[in-house]
Amino acid sequence: MENRLYKRDIISIADFDRKDLELVLETAAQLKNSPRPDLLQGKVIASCFFEASTRTRLSFETAVQRLGGTLIGFSDAGNTSAKKGETLADSVNIISSYTDAFVMRHPQEGSARLASEFSSVPVINGGDGSNQHPTQTLLDLFSIRECQGKLDGLKVAFVGDLKYGRTVHSLAQALCHFGAEFTFIAPKALAMPDYILEELDEKGIKYRFSDSIEETAPQVDIIYMTRVQKERFDETEYKHIASKYILDVESLKDAKENLKVLHPLPRVDEIAVEVDKTPYAYYFQQAENGVYARQALLALVLNEVV
Ligand code: CP
Repeated sequence: MENRLYKRDIISIADFDRKDLELVLETAAQLKNSPRPDLLQGKVIASCFFEASTRTRLSFETAVQRLGGTLIGFSDAGNTSAKKGETLADSVNIISSYTDAFVMRHPQEGSARLASEFSSVPVINGGDGSNQHPTQTLLDLFSIRECQGKLDGLKVAFVGDLKYGRTVHSLAQALCHFGAEFTFIAPKALAMPDYILEELDEKGIKYRFSDSIEETAPQVDIIYMTRVQKERFDETEYKHIASKYILDVESLKDAKENLKVLHPLPRVDEIAVEVDKTPYAYYFQQAENGVYARQALLALVLNEVV
């Protein structure tokens, strides 16, 4: 398969066509089965997290080390010259001159695209505000394919914060390449943005709205849960909304046999811990798959042939 990702910036999932996605997923599957500690030999990767992260940062850093590369970077921009007023553009310009690839998370929408304009090496977006989280989507697709045995023609429900949840925007866009059908379950204040719905309309993708996880579970292959962020509501409103969008064992009583529940994590209360023991829970395997998906992406961006 031609590697069109070589030397590319990875900013948005919209930059990937179906072939690119399949190449990453195939490479991730190979790396999961057969480790390759040679693919980043001699490469230095910057891991610069201007915003908190557990899974994205640590799985990227694990991926680099498992492929034989080395890391520089930070997990707290408060310890960098950003604190003295250095612009993102200047920071990226300098750090990229030390490295072979630049992995970044930043709270500002559009920051990854901006970084790519000032970086001398490929930039990989680890999440830019509420905008995009393309590498999460790669591991989500990998996990969906792994647990369903295919990606084409699946029925997927997204639940929770569909407005600010960058992972659902990226995943919905990517699943359009595979003819998915969607159900959206969200409070009005956190509904899927119009620009995503317009994209689905343009591509002829079917979607519906529901306000019940229980009624939706028997009809879908994947339930993709997200966290409703407390800080966006007053306390009474939050309690009302959060209690309505909790997935518990009862809400899965009529679920399809092949249903799997995914969540980008961290979760707060939106998936009851009892669900963890059911055959539907797949979110911990999903988080582990972050290492393989990110290994694949780094390997493809930094090697013409993998
Ligand atoms: N899923 C995800 O992005 O998790 P972190 O915020 O812990 O990186």
